[in-house]
Formats: sequence, C-alpha cells, structure tokens
Amino acid sequence: SDFRELAAILLAWFDQNARVLPWRAPIGTKRDPYRVWLAEIMLQQTTVPHAAPYFEAFTRRWPTVEDLAAAQDEEVMRAWAGLGYYARARNLLKCAREVAARGGFPETSAGLRELPGIGPYTAGAIAAIAFGERAAAVDGNVDRVFARLLALKGEWAAEKKRIAAEVAALVPEERPGDFAEALMDLGATICTPTSPNCMICPLTGLCKARAEGRPAEYPVKPAK
Ligand code: ADE
Repeated sequence: SDFRELAAILLAWFDQNARVLPWRAPIGTKRDPYRVWLAEIMLQQTTVPHAAPYFEAFTRRWPTVEDLAAAQDEEVMRAWAGLGYYARARNLLKCAREVAARGGFPETSAGLRELPGIGPYTAGAIAAIAFGERAAAVDGNVDRVFARLLALKGEWAAEKKRIAAEVAALVPEERPGDFAEALMDLGATICTPTSPNCMICPLTGLCKARAEGRPAEYPVKPAK
C-alpha cells in the first residue's frame, strides 16, 4: 500500500516526541505487565491527566499484582473513588486475583482477553506493549487518525472494520508496543478531534484528508 513507510515514520517521530507518562519506561526497556495493565484499565474510562495521579497512588500502595490481589475490596474501592465506574474496580480486583492465582499475566492477546475487564483493545495494547506481540490496539483515537489518513466517507461501522484490518496489517514486527503508543500520542496531541495540527504531523505526506484540505471533517459519522 501507500503506507509501507508509515510505521517507520511514526516510530521515528515517537523517538523524539513520546509523552513522558508514569506507566511508561524509557524506550527500549522492559515494561512490567502489571503496570501496563493497570494503566490501560484506568485509561478505559478517563483521560491521561486524570488517571496519572491514581496510577501513582495505586502502584505506590500495591507495587505488584500479588499485592493488589491481597488487598481488601474496601480499600481498593476507596482508592478508586474519583475514577468512576465501580464495576471496573470490581473487575480490576477479580482480574488481579486470577492473575496472581495463575502465577502471572497471560502473554498473548488471546489469553489476556479471557480475563475480567479486558476487551479486544486492552488485550491488544497490553500484548503489544508488555509482551512485544504484533497486536493492534484500535480505539476511537486510532479510528479518527485512520479515517483521516484514508479519507473514509462510507458507512461508519463498515469503515471501522476496514480501519481495524489496515492497522493490523501495519503493526511492525519490531516495536509493536511503541507503534501502539505512538498512534495514541499522535491522536492525543496532533490529530485531535476538532483542530488537527497537520503542520507538525509526521504523517501529513501520507494523509488523504489533509490533501483534500478538510481533515477536521473526518471521521464522517451518521447523524445521531
Ligand atoms: N491511552 C490508552 N492507553 C494509553 C497509553 N498507554 N499511553 C497513552 N495514552 C493511552
């Protein structure tokens, strides 16, 4: 496709522009699956700036999944207060206890998907970031970035399927986790919903919506 260079361009951009976030480790160093999992669960329902202090508090108090598994339900629920969606906190504990009982996280996206609170997006993100699996992590931000890159105008449910297939094909053998986080950072800091910053976007030369001149009009979704 036209996108043979995409992963290399994105990773070079990420090397210079990755956000420094508490659940990240320096590029090229090993990531702790517990910290990756905890961050992804928190980020399912809240923004990066809101989640960051909770992540710091949780990992200080429960540095390992075994520590979290051994916690009292009530203390975890109290620490979760402010993050909302208490079903997620209940699943968090259930998941921590299953993982502690089985002696560690499953190391594939298929295995991770079996755990409470882990859907396809979260499983792909953890597998890629913590275990280096060539897995895709497609959320709403990635959908937006690819709707623009490809200038997708068709029925949104069908276009989302196409995006999932495109992204899966583009995940590089090397650094799949950095690729996932690079797309997250690009969507959060440059290819934003209402005023994309195409002037500093590393993918501007590949972007069909940019070529058309109206990137903010994508994604084209049905009127609700
Ligand atoms: N949003 C979801 N997961 C994320 C991550 N690992 N880094 C930054 N933003 C995210």
